[in-house]
Amino acid sequence: MRTTRRHAATARLLATLASLSLLTAACGNNDDGGEETGGGAAEGYPDQNITFVVPFSAGGPTDTVTRLVAEPMAQELGVEIVVQNIEGAGGTVAAGEVSQEDPDGYTVLMHHVGMSTAPALYADLGYDPLEDFEMIGLVTEVPMTIVARRDFEPETLEELVDYVTENADTVTYANAGIGAASHLCGLLFQDAIGVTLQEVPYEGTGPALTDLVGGQVDFMCDQTTNTTGQINAGEVKAYAVTTPERVESLPDLPTTAEAGLPDVEVAVWHGLYAPAGTPEEVVQVLSDALKVALADQAVIDQLAELGTAPVPEEDATPEAHRERLEEQTKSWAQVIADAGVEPQ
Ligand code: MLT
Repeated sequence: MRTTRRHAATARLLATLASLSLLTAACGNNDDGGEETGGGAAEGYPDQNITFVVPFSAGGPTDTVTRLVAEPMAQELGVEIVVQNIEGAGGTVAAGEVSQEDPDGYTVLMHHVGMSTAPALYADLGYDPLEDFEMIGLVTEVPMTIVARRDFEPETLEELVDYVTENADTVTYANAGIGAASHLCGLLFQDAIGVTLQEVPYEGTGPALTDLVGGQVDFMCDQTTNTTGQINAGEVKAYAVTTPERVESLPDLPTTAEAGLPDVEVAVWHGLYAPAGTPEEVVQVLSDALKVALADQAVIDQLAELGTAPVPEEDATPEAHRERLEEQTKSWAQVIADAGVEPQ
C-alpha cells in the first residue's frame, strides 16, 4: 500500500511542481508584493481514500471519536476514510509509523494527550511530536472516569483510596500502556495517594474495559467515550469523573475534587496530525473538513451522549492545535518529573 501511495504521491508532487513552475512563469515571481495564487498544492486533493490511523485498539475511546468524525469528514472530502488501528507502546508505535509516511495528506493520525507526554516518558521515542508532524486541528476534550469491576469492595472514592493503600500489592490497575491517558490518570492517582499500583497494560482501553466488566482486573481510569454505556448499564462501578465539572450524561457521578482527590484532574484532548512536510494547503483542506464534521449535529449529539463535545471552531485549527501541544508538552514534562517517573 505504501509503495503505491509513494508513487502516487511522487506523481502528484511532480504535477504540483510542474504546475507551480508554470504558474511562476505565467505570473512572474511574487517579489513585487503581488497577490499569491493560493491552493496549488491542494489541487485535486483528495483524489483517493485517506487512512486515519488510531494508535489504540478498535472499539476503544480514540477509535470511537475517530470514527465519529471520519464519517462527516469523508462526506465533505468526497472520498472514503479508512480507519486503521496500529496498537502498541501507549500509542507511540502508530505515531512513529505515521511520522514516516509520505507527507501527502493520505495518512492522518488521530492522537490524544499522549502526544504531549511521550517525550517525557520514552527515552528513545524515535520521533518528535512537534517537529515531525503538521497539526490539523483539535477535535474534542474528553473527561475520564475512575471505574472498577462491579463487585469490587470499595463503594466510594474515599473507600477506594483506603482499600488500594491497604492492598497495594494485590489490587490491579488496567491501562493502555505508558503514555496512554489511562496511564497518565493512574500516575496522578498514585501521586495523590502515595501508592504504587500494580499495572496491567493493554493495547487500548477497549479490551481493558472488557476485562474490567469480566472481573479480570480491579479498576482503571478511562474516558467517558468508553465508559458511559457500561456505567449507566451498571456493568462497572464508577467513583468519580476527573474534570472540575460533572458530566451531563453521568449526572450522579461526583468530580474527583468533590470526592476528595482534587489533584486527579485530567481531560483527554484529541487532535489530528499529518506527517511533517504535508503542504499547508492540504492541511487546510483537512482542517476545514474537520470543522464541518465538528459542526455536524449528529456528531455533537453522539459526543454529548458520551460525555463530551467538539472543541470550539477556533480550536479546530493548526495554530490552536500546535499551541496546545507546545503548552501540554511543557506542563506534562513537569508533572511527570514531579511524580519521579524516569523515561523508559
Ligand atoms: C484508547 O483508545 O484505547 C485509549 O485512548 C487508551 C488510553 O489512552 O487510555
